[in-house]
Amino acid sequence: MILQDRVAIVTAAGSGIGRGGAEIMGRAGAIVIATDLVAARAEETAQRIRQAGGRAEGLALDVTDDGAIEALIGGIAKRHGRLDILHNHAGIQVEGSLEQVPAKGLDDSYRINVRAHFVAAKAALPHMKRQGKGVIINTSSNSGVFFDKGMLAYITSKTAVIAMTKQMALDYGPFNIRVNALCPGWVDTPFNDPYIRQMGGRGAIESYVKERIPMGRWASVEEIAESILYLASDRSSYMTGHALVIDGGESIA
Ligand SMILES: NC(=O)c1ccc[n+]([C@@H]2O[C@H](COP(=O)([O-])OP(=O)(O)OC[C@H]3O[C@@H](n4cnc5c(N)ncnc54)[C@H](O)[C@@H]3O)[C@@H](O)[C@H]2O)c1
Repeated sequence: MILQDRVAIVTAAGSGIGRGGAEIMGRAGAIVIATDLVAARAEETAQRIRQAGGRAEGLALDVTDDGAIEALIGGIAKRHGRLDILHNHAGIQVEGSLEQVPAKGLDDSYRINVRAHFVAAKAALPHMKRQGKGVIINTSSNSGVFFDKGMLAYITSKTAVIAMTKQMALDYGPFNIRVNALCPGWVDTPFNDPYIRQMGGRGAIESYVKERIPMGRWASVEEIAESILYLASDRSSYMTGHALVIDGGESIA
């Protein structure tokens, strides 16, 4: 199996894309540490991986807590003797234009979408350097590669994730640590509920998806999970500093 015995930590793995990525890595042989703000969700992901014959544990982790991130990553690396994959997935969406987004909304977006990725990557780095190998996946969005009305805090922070990813890739390529950004388009998870309300409900989003996305449909979690497996595994062994967009063509339309 392509990830046999690799140790993988995933943040926000208790739902949606994070869960899908954790599960596909589990099926590929990884030992998955599924973390989430909500402990029960993390444990449910781990249980699903174990029920499918994989190895996983579920742990609570709020990515706004630097100390908790450092303790969790240090603890896992110590206990397993290594850390091969870090998928920084947690993120928030604060909608609105300049007049609508409070300064706190921008701060919160940076804190979870950018700073938490930074803190976790920093904590993972010594272990990956020691091993002479490692993979970091930073979740951005296709909102990191194009612009959209009324999305100031989200687009600004998701663009920053890509910039930070490229800079990390540049600095740590010599250590054989690959860093790439995951840029999904529309995936029908609870994450979009506030945005769907803002757009005017289910009917409005379904028409948008049909008309504005060249492929005319949502992505499934499984389709994004395939890209996570690709970035996490040696299938992408010469790829670093890349922003992998999986959005049915929305960003080029
Ligand atoms: N769903 C989409 O259409 C889409 C598209 C592009 C990018 N993304 C990105 O994917 C990520 C999440 O999306 P999803 O669809 O998997 O969401 P989801 O709503 O299915 O899951 C989000 C998970 O994040 C957890 N979480 C929330 N705050 C947290 C915190 N402070 N610390 C740790 N965990 C926390 C929640 O408990 C939940 O389990 C975000 O980074 C988002 O920007 C999503």
